[in-house]
Amino acid sequence: MQMSARNATAVTSSTGNSESGQSDRTDWTAYATSYDLLSEHNPAYRALLDDFRSFLGTIERPGLIYDIGGGTGNYTGIAAAAFPDSRIRLIEPDPGMLARAKSKLAAHDNVEYEGRSLETTGVTEPADLVVCVHALYTMPRQEQRLSDLRRLVRPGGLLYLVDIGRSLDLSDWRGFLFRHIVRETGLLGAIRIFWRGREITRQNNAIRRSQDAGVFWTFDAGVLASKAEAAGFEVLRQEQAYRGYSDLVVCRAAP
Ligand SMILES: C[S@@+](CC[C@H](N)C(=O)[O-])C[C@H]1O[C@@H](n2cnc3c(N)ncnc32)[C@H](O)[C@@H]1O
Repeated sequence: MQMSARNATAVTSSTGNSESGQSDRTDWTAYATSYDLLSEHNPAYRALLDDFRSFLGTIERPGLIYDIGGGTGNYTGIAAAAFPDSRIRLIEPDPGMLARAKSKLAAHDNVEYEGRSLETTGVTEPADLVVCVHALYTMPRQEQRLSDLRRLVRPGGLLYLVDIGRSLDLSDWRGFLFRHIVRETGLLGAIRIFWRGREITRQNNAIRRSQDAGVFWTFDAGVLASKAEAAGFEVLRQEQAYRGYSDLVVCRAAP
């Protein structure tokens, strides 16, 4: 699926949904309050983190790493622990997400925080590694954003990119997570965790509405790799991830 015309011109914010009375806009600050229940209880999210950790084990120490749309800092935290002598810049426009990342990662003195979007991130110093997970699809004009990512990576440097391309089937996720959490904690535990995670449900509903409206980007499997190639990356690895909802690509910036 190619980028829709609406997506090409849309901005990430959108108007309220007057029919349902719910807002279409994803409230990342509200999401930040319970986002990390994902890393605790969603095995598909944990598998992504494990893949990133393993990937870091295969590369030479990067001097400078950018984590774009770094959210609550889960990827930055893994990189900071794996490479305590590297510098990591977490770029995140949402103040709630950024505050959560700062408090979680306070023990790491090799992390710098920038409250800005990818679009407004200047390239003062190109990175050896850029990480961007589940953030690109929320941004406007993906082809330009991929060019922005290309500018952030030094020639020969690496991009670790994961993005949700398929529309979130919320009942599929609910069933998957409920079954898993019941096995982990029992029925009562699962009901408690779902109650604590109700903000996640609310925000995932908003994400789905934005996907349906073409405000958030959706794409078929394999498209992320071809878009990355078009932006000047050589694709070293590509696969589906996150239960088939996402594409994962590892790329090298052409010299
Ligand atoms: C689903 S979260 C992913 C967070 C983190 N990368 C992870 O996988 O845990 C998407 C993040 O993208 C951020 N974001 C939205 N628009 C952005 C933009 N234009 N530039 C950079 N980040 C953006 C949001 O604020 C949010 O924190």
